[in-house]
Amino acid sequence: MLASTRWGTELDTVRPNLVSDLLRGATTLFTEAGIASPEPDALELLAYAWEIDRAALSRRRLFDDPVPESVSTRFAELCDQRRQRTPLQHLTGIAHFRHLQLQVGPGVFVPRPETELLAGAVLTELSELDSRTESDEGRRPFVIDLCSGSGAISLSVATESERVDVLGVEREPAALDWSLKNLEHSRLGESTVEFILGDATAVTEARPDLCGRADIVVTNPPYVPDAAVPRDPEVAEHDPAAALYGGDSGLEIPGRIILEAEQLLRPGGLFLMEHSEEQGAGARELLASTASLRHAATFQDYTGRDRYTVARRES
Ligand SMILES: C[S@@+](CC[C@H](N)C(=O)[O-])C[C@H]1O[C@@H](n2cnc3c(N)ncnc32)[C@H](O)[C@@H]1O
Repeated sequence: MLASTRWGTELDTVRPNLVSDLLRGATTLFTEAGIASPEPDALELLAYAWEIDRAALSRRRLFDDPVPESVSTRFAELCDQRRQRTPLQHLTGIAHFRHLQLQVGPGVFVPRPETELLAGAVLTELSELDSRTESDEGRRPFVIDLCSGSGAISLSVATESERVDVLGVEREPAALDWSLKNLEHSRLGESTVEFILGDATAVTEARPDLCGRADIVVTNPPYVPDAAVPRDPEVAEHDPAAALYGGDSGLEIPGRIILEAEQLLRPGGLFLMEHSEEQGAGARELLASTASLRHAATFQDYTGRDRYTVARRES
């Protein structure tokens, strides 16, 4: 029995040095701590502590292999931090986003699965744009990602598209640093990505040269109402406040970003913005109040909740 691997539950009385014991113990611990995905988190942390991938862990789980003491000790430490609601991605240093493994940690927003859909919608628009502009040889589509954070959207779009130029704009230096690290480790092929420090609510003032140039402007801005503190400690205590809060209603910063996007887009260009499940109608209203963004439509996430709204700049 490994003295260091104690769960504070009845599982301490069983052999805790087999894969199944450790996973069961951690899953119980995480369930009691109110963590939404206890078993996947346990699997991810055990694979990380063992320095193996998830497929190798599945094989070791199948044969219920014994776990080396150094691994179970490290695993117990990680589980203790996780039960105190340190984000899983801060413990492993990695956030999975579409095909990417992004480096994340304190100072940057952990990219969320629902944002994968937003990046997917950008890619769909790019492929449609490709077929529309086939005769326009040599023209490379240009995407601006406002509030780029870890670079999740920018880098997914650039790595999954054949040749696109992407510009990410981020106001917080710490977040920008994470995106630059992620850029360093990305295989872009013929695409390009540039991340710049800047205020997305005033980008056209700083960079008037960008006006009317973007085929697509995408943003996952801060949109939580200032007074609404998120329920999950992982979010409230670990995501940077700058990444969360969007003003009194949550839509103040997004509203200012919409006005910038309108100026950045070329006629016919597409705007896409993530928002909370309650903000679809508000986002469409903001878009309808602009001079040239039209045909606003809201789309749902994996759980059927309103998640992002798109609009097209009139030709
Ligand atoms: C919700 S996070 C999204 C990050 C990333 N795009 C993603 O989807 O994971 C919002 C990001 O916007 C940044 N931000 C907040 N206000 C900004 C502003 N005025 N200009 C540029 N970036 C801003 C935050 O620092 C944070 O990185």
